[in-house]
Amino acid sequence: MSKLCSPLFLLVLLSILTYGNCNEFSRKLSKKAMGLKREKLSHLHFFFHDIVSGKNPTAVKIAEAAVTNRSATGFGLMAMIDDPLTVGPEANSKIVGRAQGMYAQASINDIGLLMVLNFVFVEGKYNGSSLSVLGRNSVMSIVREMPNVGGSGLFRFGRGYVQAKTHTLDFKTGDAVVEYNVYVFHY
Ligand SMILES: *[C@@H]1O[C@H](CO)[C@@H](O)[C@H](O)[C@H]1NC(C)=O
Ligand SMILES: *[C@@H]1O[C@H](CO)[C@@H](O)[C@H](O)[C@H]1NC(C)=O
Repeated sequence: MSKLCSPLFLLVLLSILTYGNCNEFSRKLSKKAMGLKREKLSHLHFFFHDIVSGKNPTAVKIAEAAVTNRSATGFGLMAMIDDPLTVGPEANSKIVGRAQGMYAQASINDIGLLMVLNFVFVEGKYNGSSLSVLGRNSVMSIVREMPNVGGSGLFRFGRGYVQAKTHTLDFKTGDAVVEYNVYVFHY
């Protein structure tokens, strides 16, 4: 048997072809090798419960500007959220996930929130998958659109946009229920 056909040589050659040199920094990869078949477009619909009042708020203020008269709009204010996402608008509706992250008042002259959050799903096949949203939420507009910039699990390579529409806002407590429609390309 020639040296080139020895099982050991073939094994080494195969591992180089399959995994490349372990010292390499980057390589081309086929979609097939990653198990990526057809890109899908999915629509998700749920309600986001932003509870700022009571004993168990899901949105809490974590910072505000030291100079309080900088702006009448609350410029500089930041909140951390872990808001339930439900199928329907009612508080006791079935939970499908949570919105975890932050929003910050990033606009001096009007209410324009910088939203940095992950939708973390807990329902069915989406359990454990997440979608990341980074965008501007002009709260006073009827429909606010924000980019969906990525995802994990079933939403790997995810990209798209979300639309938020206030369903109810309690002016006394500040609690809000917001309807979300998500349109996302993923594999
Ligand atoms: C805040 O208000 C005080 C008193 O009216 C004023 O002197 C100051 O310039 C204001 N600061 C800012 C940043 O607007
Ligand atoms: C979601 O996944 C977690 C962790 O794997 C598991 O404990 C939980 O029961 C799952 N929930 C549903 C609704 O499948």
